[in-house]
This record gives sequence, structure tokens and C-alpha cells, in this order.
Amino acid sequence: MANRSDVKKRITALRGEIARHDQLYYVEAAPEISDKKYDGLFAELELLEQERPDLVTPDSPTQRVGVAPHTGLEKVSHIAPMLSLDAVRNEADVEGFLARIRTETGEDEAVIWAEPKFDGLSVEVVYENGHFDRASTRGDGRTGEGIGHTLRAARALPLRLRHPKKMPDILVVRGEALLLVKSFQKLNRARVERGEEPFANPRNAAAGLVRRLDPAGAEAIRFAVTFYDATGLSIQDAPTQETLLKQLEHQGLPVFGARARCVSMENIRAFHKRLMEARDQLPYEIDGMVLKLDDRAARENMGTRARSPRWALAWKFEPRHEITRIADIAVSVGRTGALTPVALLDPVDVGGVTVARATLHNPSEIRRKDLRVGDTVRIERAGDVIPEIVGRVDTPGQKRGDVFEMPKMCPACGAELEMRGRKAQCPAGIACPAQLVGRIVHYAARGAMDIDGLGEKTASQLVERGMVKTLADLYDLSAENFKTLEGFAAKSAKALFDAIQNRTKVPLDRFVWALGIRHVGSDSARQLARAFGSLKALRDASEDNISAVLNIGPKTAASIVGFFAERRNRDVVDRLLAAGISPQPIEKTGSTLADKTFVLTGALAGWTRAQATQEIERRGGRVTTTVSDETDYLVVGERPGSKLEQAKRHGVKTLDEADFRKLLGQGG
Ligand code: IVH
Repeated sequence: MANRSDVKKRITALRGEIARHDQLYYVEAAPEISDKKYDGLFAELELLEQERPDLVTPDSPTQRVGVAPHTGLEKVSHIAPMLSLDAVRNEADVEGFLARIRTETGEDEAVIWAEPKFDGLSVEVVYENGHFDRASTRGDGRTGEGIGHTLRAARALPLRLRHPKKMPDILVVRGEALLLVKSFQKLNRARVERGEEPFANPRNAAAGLVRRLDPAGAEAIRFAVTFYDATGLSIQDAPTQETLLKQLEHQGLPVFGARARCVSMENIRAFHKRLMEARDQLPYEIDGMVLKLDDRAARENMGTRARSPRWALAWKFEPRHEITRIADIAVSVGRTGALTPVALLDPVDVGGVTVARATLHNPSEIRRKDLRVGDTVRIERAGDVIPEIVGRVDTPGQKRGDVFEMPKMCPACGAELEMRGRKAQCPAGIACPAQLVGRIVHYAARGAMDIDGLGEKTASQLVERGMVKTLADLYDLSAENFKTLEGFAAKSAKALFDAIQNRTKVPLDRFVWALGIRHVGSDSARQLARAFGSLKALRDASEDNISAVLNIGPKTAASIVGFFAERRNRDVVDRLLAAGISPQPIEKTGSTLADKTFVLTGALAGWTRAQATQEIERRGGRVTTTVSDETDYLVVGERPGSKLEQAKRHGVKTLDEADFRKLLGQGG
């Protein structure tokens, strides 16, 4: 038996080796050894650690696997909202952006960094005191889902920063989780062999896999993560995008791809062209280029819109085109009863993604484009949207099918169809099995009731077998009932039962959205929940009261009142409440700043702009980006911009950071 210090040395060496190969694989996408060799190193380390458990440390690569399966993804609040990007497709819009940057910064040669726009899943990762602590998806921008367990198991990230002392105690980095194209192809081949549905594209695959509850097996799937932003790094420590990314790289955090420093439209155009040409050779998918103002203090002055910063822009690539044939036209029934014709295509690869279906929207669209079975068509896949048929490719002598006729009866339930505008509609409501399935899937969806394991396949079986006739019936089913369904065993049946029964305390807005009321999207549901505070108040509200809520139009108001006026719906809601569902009002810290309008300028030492905004909004206040007579306060940080002058002109009260803190009630 080897002596103590030898074992220790070997363990340290193995960990170093493994870390190096992870780096080569994920960061440089240039592995030096085969997967088999890698697994060999890993197995040796595991063996040694089994013999010497006292030498196991939490950041050993072996500790990445074996995380207990989660029973539901945990909710993780983002430290600051995760924003999205404004996207454009043409040069004129990019020029407009450049002009705006120049005017607002007052610099004709303002530096802009151009980076690839990675086509994956946005993720946030938090390192605490240099150790990987948690990771989450974007979710709704404020709250995401914990995915640390799968990222850990997939060895996608360093568990420890290289130079933690140079970093803040809490470092929040943001980036994109990607599935390398090669892994995606391998994974899809395996899925098809098992008779499973292949993933549509690497992004969907990454999103599905990263959210798996059970990380076992994740180590076999090679995710990669690349970072492009950090909110934990102060402006003093990383004044520009360039320094920020360099620091992340210095810490061993993966930052993929080429980037370019641009000061002119020519620079930007050249890099766009270079990226487009490189696109097909890259080991991961990109769908455009991102432009970012380099100077982080200047960014703070430009501010953000509701969902996207004003200092950044995505210049997306042109969508990809391909030619194929319409093999058939089917009609699908959605959860609201709307019928949509769908073209079933001869499967074709469009930029690495197999496309076999395309929506045809409605019968008049089919007529306008004169599409028939047998036609050769040009299809387009634009980034994340469903493939579209752009038009017919004339092929003389080709045999064409008959002109498409919409059925007169619902293909799912046989009810006679009605026309609602251009769309045919099945009037049967939840008496139509297709609509009921759609409602159940929507009810259980992430963002709604979030019931894991209740997808389309399960919902269809529940409806087909008559086990569920309304949403409320879900709560009468036992684990034994679920066990009778195809694809379920005792354990999964119990898990689904628990998932349904345990999701009782849900935020009011999610419950309202889950009900699937026509025209009520998740944003309107949130507004309604804020405004009415309880389900009862919303149920009793008049159309006028509802349309008085910010951003809620008369159509939505009428739909809500109509929904609750219907006995069947009222009964279902009552039964859901009786089953224990208890919608929770949206939390507010108070209303001490109700109706007060703020503008922020300059960098605050203790907060990011997003955090300050959040604190104001939680107290009922509003943050805007321009100073006017309506502005109540201007919060002034370091290096304030022209807004300070404007505030003086408008006689707006200014607050320094200490005043602001006091106003928030956080002491002097
Ligand atoms: S920066 C506040 N940089 O694109 C700025 N985003 O369509 C936030 N994305 O939500 C984003 N590559 O998930 C940034 N180099 C890059 C990116 C990038 C891909 C994603 C990101 C974002 C989405 C917007």
C-alpha cells in the first residue's frame, strides 16, 4: 500500500490533470485526450478518494456528481434582474445605435466591443468567497430555477476561482449554457435510437437537459458555459467590458470566441462579416453579434429600458433558408380552441437543425401563398422561432395536390367549427379533448403551476382515459391512478402525485395565468395580481375596474369578467381552492415611495443600478431615464452625467448615496 504522502500527491496531480482537460475541452474546445482516457483518470481519482475519504475536498471534481436528485427545481432570486437585448437585423438600425451612443456619451470614437451572440440558455452563476455556490436560469428575469446540480455534474464550470482574493466575496457572473454541436448530434442520434423525440436544436436540448431534476447521467453530456458579464465586479475594479472579460478569464472562467474592439461602423461591419463566415465552423451555435459600450460608467448613464439595456444591441444574422417539400397538411387544435394548419415537411437540415413541420397560420395564409401538398417550398428558420414557409418554389411538371380546405368539424372532437376572424375555432371548450390537454399542459407549465412531470404525453393519456375532465380533477387522482399510465412506475407516479398536491402556495399572478383565461398573459397576470391583491377581488371586479389597471385593455377585461361569469369556470376555481390551492399576494416591501419618480445618474458605490431600481420599485416608486418636471428625485452617484444639470434646471431634488439610503429606510 502506498504511503500517505504518495496518495496525497497522486490525488493532487489527478485533480490538476482533470481540471486541465476540462479547460481544454470546455474553454478551448480542443481536447487533448479521448473521453475514455479522461474517464480513466476520473476513475482513478474516485478510487483513491474512496480509500482516503479524509482527503476528499468539496471542490474535487468527483464531488460534481452524486448530487441528490432534486424533487423540483428550486427557485433562485437574481441579485439584479437578468435583462435581454434589443435585436435588429439591418445595418441602418446598427448605425442608429452607434449614433445614439456617440450623442449620449459625447464621444465620437466611443469604444464598442463586438462579441458573438451565443445561441444557448442564459444562466447566472454565483461564486461565494471564490467557491461555486449556485447557478440559475433566467426564468422571468427576477427569479430563475436552480440548475447548479446539473452544471456541477456536467463539469461545465470551475468549482473554484483561481485568484479568489482578487474578487468580491460574492461574484455574480452571467453567460450562456451551450451544448456543443457535436454533443448535440450524438445525443439526438441516441434519442432517435431509443424511440424518443429528437431535440429541435442545441439550445432546446441544453434548456431541457440543464433543467433535469436528476443530474445522474449529466456527466456524460458535455455542456459548456461561456460568460459575458459580471454584476459583482465594481466599476472601479473593472471599468470596461474588456477588463471585465479579461478578469473573468484570469479567474479560469470560460469566455468563448473572438471579440473585436470597434470605434466605427466599418469596424463593426467587418467583424459581423467575419463572424458570419466563421459561423459554420464554430463548435457551438451563434445567431448574431452583440455590441456593447465598453465604458461601464457611461453605460450607467445611458440606463436601461424595461427589459434591455440602452447601451447594448444584438445584430442578428439573417435567418437560414432551405428547400423542401410539403408531404401533408394537418390541422392542430390549441388550448384556446384555435385551429392551426401545419405543414408536415420532408425533414430537412436547416443550419444543423432538422425541420419537419412548419406552421401555416390560417387558411387565408395558405391561399395567399398558394400552398398545396406536393409543393416544393422555401423554409426559413429565424433563430428561436418556429420554422416558416416563405414561399413556393415553382417546379414545372411537378404534381400538385388539391387546394387545401379547412375541415368543417374539429378533428379532435367533431364539433362544428366557427370562424373567429381568420381563424377557425372549435367551440367545444374543455369538452374538446385537444383543448383540455392544452389547458392541462398550460396549467402545469413552468411559470404557471410548475408541476413537473405533467407534460403533453401524460395530459393526453389522462384525457383519453377520461380521468380528467376539468383541471380540478387532477387533485382527485391518486398515485395509484398515475401508476396505470404508460411510462409511469410507482416512483414516478408518486412524484407526480406529490408535485400536484404539494404545489399549494402559489403566487397569485401564476395562478391567474395558469387558469388560461383568453388574452391574459403572464405580464398582465402580474399587473392584475398587483392591482387586486387577491383572487376574490379579481373575481368580483367589474370590467371598468379591470381595464383601469395599467396595461390592461378592454378586450382582456371583458375576457376576465366573461371567464368568471361562466358557472363551469367558477366551479373549477372553487374546487381548486377547496383542494388546498392558496394563491399568495405579491410581496411588497411597503409603499413608502408610492407615486415617486426617480432618475439615477453616475455610479453608486453600494449598488448596481438594477439593485437601486429594484429597491425603489419594491417601495412603490418608479424609475425613469429622463429628467423632467415629473421627476421627484435624482440619485447622484460618482461621475454623474448631464442629468445633474438637467435636474438643477427642472428644480428636481438631488440625493447623494447616503440620502438615498436614508430615504429607503436603511439608516445613515
Ligand atoms: S449581454 C444586459 N452578451 O442573448 C446584457 N448576451 O437575446 C445582457 N447572449 O439574454 C446580455 N450572447 O442570453 C450578452 N455576448 C453576449 C451574448 C448574450 C448571447 C444572450 C443572452 C441574452 C440574449 C438576448
